[in-house]
Amino acid sequence: MPTDGPNNLKPNNLAHPRHIAIIMDGNGRWAQKRFMPRAVGHTAGVKAVKRVVEYCAINKVEVLTLFAFSSENWRRPAAEVSLLMTLFMASLQREINKLDRNNIRLMFIGDRTAFSDKLQQKMADGEIQTQGNTALTVVVAANYGGHWDMCQAFQAITEKIACGILPQQPITEALINQHLSTAGLPDPDLFIRTGGEQRISNFMLWQLAYTEMYFTKTLWPDFDQNSLEDAIKSFKCRERRFGHTSEQVLNNAVNL
Ligand code: IPE
Ligand code: IPE
Ligand code: MG
Repeated sequence: MPTDGPNNLKPNNLAHPRHIAIIMDGNGRWAQKRFMPRAVGHTAGVKAVKRVVEYCAINKVEVLTLFAFSSENWRRPAAEVSLLMTLFMASLQREINKLDRNNIRLMFIGDRTAFSDKLQQKMADGEIQTQGNTALTVVVAANYGGHWDMCQAFQAITEKIACGILPQQPITEALINQHLSTAGLPDPDLFIRTGGEQRISNFMLWQLAYTEMYFTKTLWPDFDQNSLEDAIKSFKCRERRFGHTSEQVLNNAVNL
């Protein structure tokens, strides 16, 4: 009896993921396999981003979060970091108007103060220009780390309480959610990591608590709409229980 095939689909998990979060990994190896510099892999990776954004917009995914640069990626050689910043800037310059025309909202999470003033300005411009768009929200995680996100949330809460913006109160999950960089967004339903590694690498540690995980060996520049469809198919074959028993879920005895 197959455990993970289309025959195993159950009505409760046929729903499309509302929020897909992706660690786009494997650009360097993709280039190295072709005896080319890692930079070529990063450039090819940008094309994969466009394919995935297009698929999500057409298929009515609400939120797509893309891990573009981690708080640990500064440890890479200076030339690679600088190339990634240049690519980031160029992609924003080229794509913001297109995203806007397609009713796509652009948001950034991460500590943007480490970026150049010019890049920070472009990020803010992109967010403001697209803030009213409703078709798909693309969240780019740049200089993002899950540890950073929790620290900045706790910092914001303590500061607000200290200066009286918030009353003294117990720290609750809801209060933390409201102060994370993802406040207002649903938690990811489906997490995808390309490139074969099976780790979280400090991505959305709080928000991934009940996310379905999907790891693929496909290198990010090779990830296309079929690859994304495979991941979504796998998601739809899972039974999300959130602590309940399978019987409770199958009998629709619980609200998931
Ligand atoms: C992911 O690909 C892109 C970034 C981290 C910016 P990598 O550059 O990590 O590619 P590999 O893992 O070395 O192949
Ligand atoms: C994670 O990839 C970060 C991004 C994809 C932006 P890495 O390639 O940096 O992850 P590790 O360091 O190998 O875990
Ligand atoms: Mg990597």
